[in-house]
Amino acid sequence: MVHLGAVLLALGCLLATAAAESAVRPVVMWHGLGDDYKSGGMQRVESLIKDMYPGIFVHSVYLDEDPEKDSKASLFGSLNEQIQFVCDQLASIPELANGFDGLGFSQGGLFLRGYVERCNAPKVHNLLTFGSPQNGVEDMPPCENPRDFVCRRRNAVLKTQAYAAYAQNSVTVAQYYRDLDRYDKYLEFSAYLADVNNERSTKNITYADNIKSLENLVLYLFTEDQTVVPKESAWFGQTDKSNGAQMSLEDRALFQEDWIGLKSLYQDGKLKREILEGRHMNITNATVLDFAAKYLGSSGQFEPMVAMSAPDAVQEAMVRFGQSFHDRLQVVLSAMAGMAYM
Ligand SMILES: *[C@@H]1O[C@H](CO)[C@@H](O)[C@H](O)[C@H]1NC(C)=O
Ligand SMILES: *[C@@H]1O[C@H](CO)[C@@H](O)[C@H](O)[C@H]1NC(C)=O
Ligand SMILES: *[C@@H]1O[C@H](CO)[C@@H](O)[C@H](O)[C@H]1NC(C)=O
Repeated sequence: MVHLGAVLLALGCLLATAAAESAVRPVVMWHGLGDDYKSGGMQRVESLIKDMYPGIFVHSVYLDEDPEKDSKASLFGSLNEQIQFVCDQLASIPELANGFDGLGFSQGGLFLRGYVERCNAPKVHNLLTFGSPQNGVEDMPPCENPRDFVCRRRNAVLKTQAYAAYAQNSVTVAQYYRDLDRYDKYLEFSAYLADVNNERSTKNITYADNIKSLENLVLYLFTEDQTVVPKESAWFGQTDKSNGAQMSLEDRALFQEDWIGLKSLYQDGKLKREILEGRHMNITNATVLDFAAKYLGSSGQFEPMVAMSAPDAVQEAMVRFGQSFHDRLQVVLSAMAGMAYM
């Protein structure tokens, strides 16, 4: 006859071990321009990931809990302040304490990279960015209707005013507008992009070190992207002004001199440039399932659950770790049931 207390104790230990091994690494997403953290698109991605990895913790970054204000903050505000706000937000979420995988959509991918460079606490393991203007935009997103006068006027004003202090403090796109015809002005006044891309003569080594610490940096480019100009910015591309051709990352000093760690990542096989068919942010369910299978769902290391009664531990484990853990638990429970009848 085995003492039930001993069995429960053994079960507690097993659970603790299993928890440490099989906890699924959380995911943090950052939405794009004009979108909000609770939008249908964001919820779709989240629910597909949760179906694949039951119990996974997913956090959608917000600048305001009110979705409307959150959407507004994607257009207006200081990126330096926003990045710091998100650093504080992510640091305050206990579920993320052991790090996470990041999904940055459109400009959200450029911002999540800024988070890695400047804070990275909690740490990002895999960073996936989708149609993100990693090298900024050389032009404003073209107006959908070329006859939309208000839109065209707005773009023209934005471009001429882009490097004015107020624009750099309050218009998000201006802070990653990289005007090749006014590169000196850009270098001097860009409040965000020139800094996070380490384009100025004084480089911040922490930025490069943090990027090098990623397990993978996966850059998705949309073949028909008409929002990010040029679409190759998603891969840190840039237009060669002398002939209008696209310079690839390898052609650029940013890479050759390893300003932000991309060359190191590349040499280690951790920099991945992927292609998605279609227009900006055309992310189908199949695409989500594909990248989620490839890059998400690794087991992270969590604090073992101690000082918890077995039934609570079981319940907690069921909620947190879902299916794969469920199978393991069945084995343990069956074994325990067998012992109790002895
Ligand atoms: C995509 O996935 C979402 C979330 O599971 C689902 O609601 C939607 O119906 C799917 N769309 C298609 C086209 O399968
Ligand atoms: C480099 O960036 C880190 C992280 O944001 C910051 O703490 C540090 O002050 C920066 N160093 C310099 C020299 O600007
Ligand atoms: C979106 O992507 C799918 C396949 O990935 C493609 O068949 C479709 O044409 C694309 N649609 C748009 C609007 O880009």
